[in-house]
Amino acid sequence: MTTTIQAPPPDPGSPPPPSRLRLTAYALAQLVLAVPALAFLILGVVGAATLVVWVGAAILAVSVPATRWIADQHRLMAARVLGIPVPRPYRPVTLGRPVEALLVVLRDPMTWRDLAWSVWASTFGFAVALICLLELLLVVTFPIWWFGIRPKMRARSAVDLWFLAISRTEHLEQRVQVLTETRADLVDHSAAELRRLERDLHDGAQARLVALSMSLGLADQLFAEDPERARRLVSDARATTSAAIGDLRSVVRGIHPPVLADRGLVGAVQALALDMALPVRVDPGLVGRPSAPVESAVYFAVAECLTNVAKHARAERAWVVLSHDGARLRAVVGDDGSGGADPARGSGMLGVRRRLAAFDGTMAVSSPPGGPTLVTLEVPCDLSSPRTTPSSAPA
Ligand SMILES: Nc1ncnc2c1ncn2[C@@H]1O[C@H](COP(=O)(O)OP(=O)(O)OP(=O)(O)O)[C@@H](O)[C@H]1O
Ligand SMILES: [Mg+2]
Repeated sequence: MTTTIQAPPPDPGSPPPPSRLRLTAYALAQLVLAVPALAFLILGVVGAATLVVWVGAAILAVSVPATRWIADQHRLMAARVLGIPVPRPYRPVTLGRPVEALLVVLRDPMTWRDLAWSVWASTFGFAVALICLLELLLVVTFPIWWFGIRPKMRARSAVDLWFLAISRTEHLEQRVQVLTETRADLVDHSAAELRRLERDLHDGAQARLVALSMSLGLADQLFAEDPERARRLVSDARATTSAAIGDLRSVVRGIHPPVLADRGLVGAVQALALDMALPVRVDPGLVGRPSAPVESAVYFAVAECLTNVAKHARAERAWVVLSHDGARLRAVVGDDGSGGADPARGSGMLGVRRRLAAFDGTMAVSSPPGGPTLVTLEVPCDLSSPRTTPSSAPA
């Protein structure tokens, strides 16, 4: 825990610092919240100690969210007092899988830092808040309150954030870990893609070209003695050529579909929707185009989600909503089918998650039993202006 909280330079757009009375109200809130913080600290310790007999899991299921809520209130107050943004630093927990969720919570260093913070908040932090309040209530100490409340509350908030916020170094460490994992996934994914291409070419176009070469060789020998048979062989060879071209086209489509290069993400998704057996509405809320690699990743992700709708959902209709909020491209693929989509049960959705993670993107799935299923794909990116978009992006 090596956080150094430094006051940022004043930002003309940021809200004004809280008034003395508001700071005193914060002190009162900290005083009141110190009591449940101490209670949930004790519960948390008891829960961790009795985890082996599973009673602890039930206790932690109450104490951890409660402690997190109290810590969040202090993060908000510290953010206002110090005038800096304080993001919520917990690792995301997947609900619905209690044991996995418990492991994520227990492995999250912030869980343990919350407990350490509770010790501070219910002892020294409590004392600081109490002094701030008493100084206002006792008339003789009013001047001390007037001049002292700001530095005292700033100091208290800085200590709160020393426990409750992730330091720059920790942030960078987490980032390095994410990048290492996504890079390894990307290397695996690229190797698997190369193997798939090799197999497609080997089993498809290459096999047909070998057959073509043999037919033409035989035809060459037969032209003099049996021209009729030779002509039939040449005609077969023409059909094999068309099939080989078809195979090559589908391999090319698997690398970078021509429709994507020509018509962009919106056009390509509309083409996917038209190919579906059920009606699919496309909301094309994109002005401009993302870079070719992002476009391709989102296209294949939407294609996988629509394939899943056709394969698993038993839906009557589906929809794709594309949008960009200035920082992130979002594609929501929804259907009114039976629900129950679970990335852990196949390889397609996990592949989508990996593909998007290479661009810092995410995939969130909401699919309760009975539906509807909503798969939200998000990738941070800029859009090029529509007028400068080339008619065909590089593959
Ligand atoms: N739209 C959906 N509606 C209902 N169930 C779904 C939906 N999408 C996915 N599922 C369920 O989630 C599981 C995981 O999907 P995923 O795409 O990862 O694997 P898959 O489609 O079975 O196989 P593949 O690896 O070929 O994609 C599926 O097996 C299916 O049971
Ligand atoms: Mg699938």
